[in-house]
Amino acid sequence: MTQDGVRPIRLDGLAYGGDYNPDQWPEETWAEDARLMREAGVNLVSLPVFSWPLLEPREGEYDFAWLDRVVDLLWSQGIRVDLATATATPPAWLVRAHPEVLPVDRNGVRLEFGSRQAYCPSSPVFREHALRLTDAMARRYGDHEALALWHVSNEYGDHVARCWCPESAAHFRRWLQARYGTLDGLNDAWGTSCWGQHYTEWAHIEPPRCATGPINPTQQLDFERFSSDALLELFRAEVDVLREITPNIPVTTNFMSLFRELDYWDFAAAEDVVTDDAYPDPADPAAHVGAALNYGLMRSLKGGQPWLLLEQAPSAVSWRDVNVPKAPGQMRAMSLHAVAHGSDGVMFFQWRQARFGPEKFHSAMLGHRGTASRSYRETAALGRELSALSAVKGTRVRSAVALVVDWDAWWGLSAPDSLPSVRLDWATQARGWHAALFALGQTVDVVRATGPFDAYEIVVVPNLYAMTDEQADALAAYVRGGGTLVVGPFSGVVDHTEKVHDGGAPGPLRALLGVAVDEWWPLPDDAHETLRSGGRAWRAHTWGEWLEVSGDADVVATYGSGDLAGRPAVVRRADGGTAWYLSAVLDHDGLVALFRDVLRGAGVPATPGTTDDVEVVTRTDGATDVTFLLNHGRRTVRLSDLPADSRVLTGPPPADGHVTLGPFDVTVLTHPTTDRPPAVRILTTLTDEKGPSA
Ligand code: GAL
Repeated sequence: MTQDGVRPIRLDGLAYGGDYNPDQWPEETWAEDARLMREAGVNLVSLPVFSWPLLEPREGEYDFAWLDRVVDLLWSQGIRVDLATATATPPAWLVRAHPEVLPVDRNGVRLEFGSRQAYCPSSPVFREHALRLTDAMARRYGDHEALALWHVSNEYGDHVARCWCPESAAHFRRWLQARYGTLDGLNDAWGTSCWGQHYTEWAHIEPPRCATGPINPTQQLDFERFSSDALLELFRAEVDVLREITPNIPVTTNFMSLFRELDYWDFAAAEDVVTDDAYPDPADPAAHVGAALNYGLMRSLKGGQPWLLLEQAPSAVSWRDVNVPKAPGQMRAMSLHAVAHGSDGVMFFQWRQARFGPEKFHSAMLGHRGTASRSYRETAALGRELSALSAVKGTRVRSAVALVVDWDAWWGLSAPDSLPSVRLDWATQARGWHAALFALGQTVDVVRATGPFDAYEIVVVPNLYAMTDEQADALAAYVRGGGTLVVGPFSGVVDHTEKVHDGGAPGPLRALLGVAVDEWWPLPDDAHETLRSGGRAWRAHTWGEWLEVSGDADVVATYGSGDLAGRPAVVRRADGGTAWYLSAVLDHDGLVALFRDVLRGAGVPATPGTTDDVEVVTRTDGATDVTFLLNHGRRTVRLSDLPADSRVLTGPPPADGHVTLGPFDVTVLTHPTTDRPPAVRILTTLTDEKGPSA
């Protein structure tokens, strides 16, 4: 551990490697794997993620001999391990001896063994067995020099994020008791005087199941919170075992990008390093925009500390309806994209392509054709290239804008049956706002609704349906200290118990924003309205609001059509800094136009561009910047206004002050730190090719 309490991953340079499942292969292939890994530049391998039944074939009977041989072999080639605690999937013997370990869905159906992650997060039996294996793994490998990182379980919440079994119900009740203390407290928080829901015994409370009609929204919200906490508790329990035995080895669990089911702020606080599994769809031409937000979240979860891309596909996955491969160069671009956004390495699922099981058609670093496969050639080339980028290790991404992500608001807005409109989707709002900022050349960080915001010139809140006074105070203090804040529709509506704020939305931010919502005005499906701002017209859909505006606020845009015609739609109020409120859902062009005004008002330059395919991201150590110029598209582009005194680390070098990037090409430049990240211009789009050829 370093003096400031950080446990870094024990690795030289950037991490490079992937998941390895040696137990799916005869032992003769292991030596070849280790040799080829080394040749491909691999320095880190994740294993044995799903090997519990081999490590503990019968209760309490361990067999580590095979894993010893694998780890020693890897280490003999200088390859370190991201060692899984192997608790992601309980073995058949455990679920047959204790069927209550299996999870139950909301209809009361117990899910069978036969896939993976078949466990109830609240099961004490599962937990006891998982902790015993964790303990055994830590004692066995804790001192092994190859051990770089602990990989706890795998993708918590994948497959099973919620369980409705009796054990989970009992755990939910204990969680509620701890939260509310008394039944009076719970009855008050849940508003049980509505529809005769009053409780007189804790034992009468159940998780929200299939009921006769709409279910109490606070009960639903608490079940979301509890379910996230139940997995967090399990995670922490394993982390505690590992910290006790190996206090200097960092701990992680692999996240799944912007994932609704788990509050990653809490999970990140319990680990040393944030790691993410990212599978942007190569068939989606805008996948890089979504990925940029996911990566923004990953680097922000621990305050800007570098994170690690722990899984991505070398080419196609096997779990979409149609699994499109990555075009030549696309895997490299996607990999460098993650590095640009703060990942200190690139890892894949998986090393050797499976011959059997549900993932036999999932691409791998070493494809079915071995070293002759395209994926092997590309992964070996990337391994070599990453060694030229080791200077970025530990550096931080530069960003002037942060977007607020809050799981309570997300969960609250997912209540299926008691909202003004179910069409106002939290993630769609967040992604839409981010996409508009992306189009204006912004690299966007993510923050909690309580901050800290000081590092940012602009903070945007696409939606904060549930808002506490603490959150409102932090946002208001940021504006009063000179910041620029933009708040989106249906924010500040309820408190943390789902009770509507007195006086209406946006609740504790009414004074700051200078607006009060009199009535929600959701639009029928397929309806569009126009917003007018000066001579400009912006298209809106899904949502509107009847706003009353205070005298000291400016109306920036009004509704131009429909029932709200002539009424305020976008309002701006100066209060130290500037607070904006947007009451509608704008289409992409409208949002871009609005955010262009916001950026101008805050003095943040918008990078001029002709295509969203190009992205410029800068990492810095404070003295030297590393700027990534990424062409995510299939057209060749020419870029100018490159940073002064730059040197190429990898990719096509500048000529005559320009860089030309073919389809999926990336150039990485290093240069002295500038006041602001370089405002590279996209000069021309040269060709309109269909795509690259191998
Ligand atoms: C992840 C998982 C891996 C592998 C991969 C395939 O969700 O952690 O084990 O299944 O997906 O894309």
